Amino acid sequence: MRITMIGSGYVGLVSGACLADFGHQVVCVDKDERKIAELSRGAIPIFEPGLEALVAQTMREGRLSFTTDMAPAVAEADVVFIAVGTPSRRGDGHADLSYVQQAAREIATAVRGFTVVVTKSTVPVGTCDEIERIIRETNPAADVAVVSNPEFLREGAAIDDFRRPDRIVVGLSDERAREVMTEVYRPLYLNQAPMVFTSRRTSELIKYAGNAFLAMKITFINEIADLCEKVGANVQEVARGIGLDNRIGSKFLHAGPGYGGSCFPKDTLALVKTAQDNASPMRLVETTVAVNEVRKRAMARKVMAACGGDVRDRKIAVLGLTFKPNTDDMREAPSLAIIQALQDAGARIAAYDPEGMEQAKLVTEGVEFGADAYGVAEGADALVIVTEWNAFRAMDFRRLKTLMRTPLLVDLRNIYRKDEVRQHGFAYVSVGRPAEDYLSPVRVGLKTAGQQ
Ligand SMILES: NC(=O)c1ccc[n+]([C@@H]2O[C@H](COP(=O)([O-])OP(=O)(O)OC[C@H]3O[C@@H](n4cnc5c(N)ncnc54)[C@H](O)[C@@H]3O)[C@@H](O)[C@H]2O)c1
Repeated sequence: MRITMIGSGYVGLVSGACLADFGHQVVCVDKDERKIAELSRGAIPIFEPGLEALVAQTMREGRLSFTTDMAPAVAEADVVFIAVGTPSRRGDGHADLSYVQQAAREIATAVRGFTVVVTKSTVPVGTCDEIERIIRETNPAADVAVVSNPEFLREGAAIDDFRRPDRIVVGLSDERAREVMTEVYRPLYLNQAPMVFTSRRTSELIKYAGNAFLAMKITFINEIADLCEKVGANVQEVARGIGLDNRIGSKFLHAGPGYGGSCFPKDTLALVKTAQDNASPMRLVETTVAVNEVRKRAMARKVMAACGGDVRDRKIAVLGLTFKPNTDDMREAPSLAIIQALQDAGARIAAYDPEGMEQAKLVTEGVEFGADAYGVAEGADALVIVTEWNAFRAMDFRRLKTLMRTPLLVDLRNIYRKDEVRQHGFAYVSVGRPAEDYLSPVRVGLKTAGQQ
């Protein structure tokens, strides 16, 4: 099939390369000329494991190309995917659909013959109807079937997710699109990936409901972690204890500094707005948003408390800046709020991230960036793990101790065990795990003998 992908960001580029790998003829379009120039000479503007090799291979085999010129790419396509951004609209939290609407107008004037137009971008319920309206208004002669096909890939594991999805969701109203979409995903379908055909509105809501549920699960375990700290329980063991129940499942039960990234924050907010607009408020999701928002600065307070309550003129070394490992994406990364709060309290910040520093430099101020964990630890009063990159999982604590002014590790991802860190003379603070080895009856508020 001839496929045109509009938007060549994290989703468009990965989807385009994977579809080309399936054997389709794919053109990726973007209006960012620099991005297209880079991609055309084989340079990948984002960090995503395996992507560079896949793009190089599919380009070499002549099935993947890049352009800024949308019209000819759309005219020749059987299927046009819209994979442009849908960020939060400034001021009210609704999804900003201006890029999607602009793409729809441009598609309308360029289509030739029957074309399936697919929204891969995450869009609120009713957006496919709106895209169809725009196309019919702009070009009444256009013969299009508008389809919803939300994307579920995760940055950092995007290629694998695209090739081995848990499910493919397709929302349609024009039956002609069913056969076309089955053909697009034939290799996955043959691999037994379930294809869920449904209405467009249901499909659009599936994406938001999925992300909101995952965000809620993370937020739930984060609140359990806070309670664990108060009562002397261990959140990792609670997570394992509940996660072994198949009805709950063990994924997304890792306590940490709160969710971030390009999807959960904006998608939970957009769902809240859709629900409010339809007089069907979603209190659970509203609370998830609010709890997660305050958590990031609370993590900065945790660092301050570990430093004795005052970080003015202290040097804090931050390890990991991206919202999760194996990506360079800094959108809504918890590190940003944590760094800001520490700076507000007068701390000097030195930071290191294996892939995210270029992006981080664009969105932070006054941060000194180092070449590795040891570089930033020099003279530091605390080392704070914010993102759990593998590079931070086996650090040389003997060396760190000689470099740091105060040997203190604040592990916001629980990647170490207290005893392995403490044996090197470090003070160690983590999330939702008891500070002591035993349950102090006083600390958990139980009455002890003699206190009857
Ligand atoms: N990033 C993820 O992990 C992920 C996962 C699932 C779904 N999504 C959804 O996919 C969509 C895209 O996300 P992303 O992270 O790839 O965004 P992105 O910002 O990385 O990429 C969007 C690209 O679209 C281009 N663009 C915008 N308007 C255009 C137009 N009219 N013509 C051509 N190009 C245009 C931009 O220049 C940019 O390169 C969003 O709706 C997002 O919610 C993202």
